[in-house]
Amino acid sequence: MKAVEIYLLLHLILTASVLVNTFDPITVTVGVISNLWQLFNTHERCDSEWISFNAEGLRADLESKLFGQHIASRVILKAVNGFMSDDNPQKPLVLSLHGRSGTGKNFVSRLIAENIYKEGMDSSFVHVFIATYHFPHKSQIDSYKSQLQQWIKGNATNCERSMFIFDEMDEMNPGLIDSIKSFLNHYKKLDGVSYRKAIFIFLSNAGGEVITETALDFWKEGRNRDEIKLIDLETSLSASAFNDINSGFWHSRLIDDNLVDFFIPFLPLEYRHVVQCAMAEMKAKGLEPDQDVAAELAKDLIYFPKSERVFSVQGCKTIEKRLYHYID
Ligand SMILES: *[C@@H]1O[C@H](CO)[C@@H](O)[C@H](O)[C@H]1NC(C)=O
Repeated sequence: MKAVEIYLLLHLILTASVLVNTFDPITVTVGVISNLWQLFNTHERCDSEWISFNAEGLRADLESKLFGQHIASRVILKAVNGFMSDDNPQKPLVLSLHGRSGTGKNFVSRLIAENIYKEGMDSSFVHVFIATYHFPHKSQIDSYKSQLQQWIKGNATNCERSMFIFDEMDEMNPGLIDSIKSFLNHYKKLDGVSYRKAIFIFLSNAGGEVITETALDFWKEGRNRDEIKLIDLETSLSASAFNDINSGFWHSRLIDDNLVDFFIPFLPLEYRHVVQCAMAEMKAKGLEPDQDVAAELAKDLIYFPKSERVFSVQGCKTIEKRLYHYID
């Protein structure tokens, strides 16, 4: 029994006993039934009460919580909006998020989950696979393959509107990626299971170099980074993910077969973005956002390239932990 269920059970008994004192059998019955209903309702189900897309919430979250990612923010909103408002999508939504670590790839996946599932990342319909954690041994690749296929199939059978997040795609064995490719395709049903309403999100550092180079070029030319267009990056991005031997995409047919709907670049973060992250983090912690603290924290991070010191090496990744050293 979950804590919340125990709580509700106690609440039920309490309410019932209070109501019994009123000696009104109808009130008692109604009270008991409504409490029982609540009790059963705490179990997450694959229906609109637990899964419903909040487009406005996602837009607001991307705008106020994600910093320095004008491309990612726009593409994700458009992609998810379009997919979720289509009652009969032809294939699952497949997003491939690229960029250095700390630029917000995991964070964005969380925002998407939170605006679709009532339980957010804790939803039993959201599944995260981390290459080095779930599939660490090269020698066991064959058993991983069948396991992963079974998991995806089982979970999609449970709930058509499932979300699968694959972290550390660059560490993922290409064979393993190939093994899930049929799920991403335009099949109406595969062995009686439909994957068309599922969302697959791949996170990877692959392409980070290319993205950084482009951002640095803009910076050197004194151009606003907001002018960087998806098209400036998309071609080199899919090419670099494809050619990078260390990337799980290598030789993978996800790209050959155009199964990925959107390649989404995450730009390296500058000092001012780190300040924004720190301010947002303070707010999220219920603290009064303090510009001085944020600036101090951001100053202590390491920036690259060595000579120009433009981008944060860690992005916003360590902000949450570091914050404690700066607030007494
Ligand atoms: C769903 O996926 C999880 C891994 O995230 C796995 O442990 C579980 O067995 C899967 N469920 C089914 C029904 O296959």
